Amino acid sequence: MMPAGTQILVLREGTHRERGKGAQFNNIAAAKAVADAVRSTLGPRGLDKMLVDSLGDVVITNDGVTILKEIDVTHPAAKMIVEVAKTQDEEAGDGTTTAVVLAGELLKKAENLIEQDIHPTVIAAGYRQAAEKAREILEKVATKISIKDADVLKKVAMTAMSSKSASGHKELLADISVKAVMAVAEQRADGTYFVDEDNIQVVKKQGGSIANSELVEGIIVDKERVHPGMPAEVKDAKIALIDAALEVKKTEIDAKIEITDPTQLQAFLNEEEAMLKRMVETVRKSGADVVFCQKGIDDLAQHYLAKEGIYAVRRVKKSDMEKLAKATGGKLVTKLDELAKDDLGFAKLVHEKKIAEDEMTFVTGCKNPRAVSILLRGGTEHVVDELERSVEDATSVVAVAIEDGKVITGGGSSATEIALGLRDMAATVGGREQFAIQAFADAVEVIPRTLAENAGLDSIDILIALRKAHKQGNKYAGINVFSGKVSDMKKENVIEPLRVGTQAISSATDAAVMILRIDDVIASKAGGGAGPGAAGKGGEGGEGGGEGEEF
Ligand SMILES: Nc1ncnc2c1ncn2[C@@H]1O[C@H](COP(=O)(O)OP(=O)(O)OP(=O)(O)O)[C@@H](O)[C@H]1O
Ligand SMILES: [Mg+2]
Repeated sequence: MMPAGTQILVLREGTHRERGKGAQFNNIAAAKAVADAVRSTLGPRGLDKMLVDSLGDVVITNDGVTILKEIDVTHPAAKMIVEVAKTQDEEAGDGTTTAVVLAGELLKKAENLIEQDIHPTVIAAGYRQAAEKAREILEKVATKISIKDADVLKKVAMTAMSSKSASGHKELLADISVKAVMAVAEQRADGTYFVDEDNIQVVKKQGGSIANSELVEGIIVDKERVHPGMPAEVKDAKIALIDAALEVKKTEIDAKIEITDPTQLQAFLNEEEAMLKRMVETVRKSGADVVFCQKGIDDLAQHYLAKEGIYAVRRVKKSDMEKLAKATGGKLVTKLDELAKDDLGFAKLVHEKKIAEDEMTFVTGCKNPRAVSILLRGGTEHVVDELERSVEDATSVVAVAIEDGKVITGGGSSATEIALGLRDMAATVGGREQFAIQAFADAVEVIPRTLAENAGLDSIDILIALRKAHKQGNKYAGINVFSGKVSDMKKENVIEPLRVGTQAISSATDAAVMILRIDDVIASKAGGGAGPGAAGKGGEGGEGGGEGEEF
């Protein structure tokens, strides 16, 4: 028998362990800290963040997911909140700040309930019910649209861009985004649409003004032709896509060739020349008059290609080669000898065009009309980078709106409608879950509250006005952050895809519930304490364990 009071050690020495409320509050604090980091960027009047990495590279952005990806988060619970932003970005393409702010607020409200001795599993169950109802409410207030509603789609794109620095040119950029998505949208047999955003290529070129940005029906390759003797323009182009060097291969091992006679040297050079000539001859014989080469092209080969009147580009990025293959219907050839007529792609026009200081190659009138490119221009590198993120948000929301065919109103209007519906529901639910549902309703209002705060408005006055308007049946009432008044968001053209809203609810709830169910954090020293492994273990522990985990 062991004497009473003997301590048994089951964990390795140096393991850090935190249990019960201590662990919960610690996790919640970390998650809230992440949400607070992005809160001030929400909405059209939110501000931007400047992020500087260890090498001194600067990113200026308003994009929630970009901020969270750039900052180095180590706390496992904080990492789970970063995942919320990533999921939101992958599933809906926008609303990453909203989802993170909501997750933080759900946890904050849960903290109050835990302090009142409401068990986390009860809160989790209440939150799940509330989320389900919230999605139902969103479905109910949503409006049906079709791919033909170009003006609604444009409003969707403009709303997504209004919070980004590109908003000064949102009209033009929204137009470009809508046209790009419409061009690549494919109809399924059941009449619904599918958008493969990989078909939209975004090319950034620093210089000029944002107003010079344009939509190009085709592919843009940021490279010039290799030789000035080549034609600058090829009509009805037959395009070879080669993933092999048009060079004489260097041997891998160091070989020494001893030449004793000058004629031998000449023969050696002649042979090299003949090999390059044969390569160009293979290209010519295939019928190609344009070559995109992923590897290098020897000077001499360039000369022969120019003599044959072939337009050639070298060292093309792999991703561009893949896009070219898809757009022109050509095949990527890895062995030059095997290049044949069947492998060639087609485009009505391949030409070189000067953009800013550089020449670029434009491939237009492709076999696949679904290939489009957006050429973005802007004063500095940081401007075009943020422009790219804005346009990516815009194309994503338009794509999602077309795929689902449903939109909701923004500006805090849908959130207020959810809060109203949930408060009604809470009253009908017996038991302690009603407190959680009530808390969820309060948490959702963080969206209008933050939009108002970031616009320098009195958030309490705004919330009161919003609640009143919704009680009276104005389900589209939201905040006009510019005038500071509560008004109809449909009339204000603040429109978002339904999926941005439903996904934000789902991912924020999932993360909050997962964090709430953790009551024991065991961090091993060897893993560096709070490494990614710790986050995973913490998460699984919370999912699997749950009820009354008393040791
Ligand atoms: N003109 C407007 N008036 C009021 N609210 C607006 C307006 N335009 C957009 N909003 C609101 O701003 C919020 C979106 O802000 P923002 O784009 O900064 O964050 P996000 O979409 O959640 O995240 P991110 O764009 O960083 O992925 C939404 O709630 C949207 O309804
Ligand atoms: Mg946004």
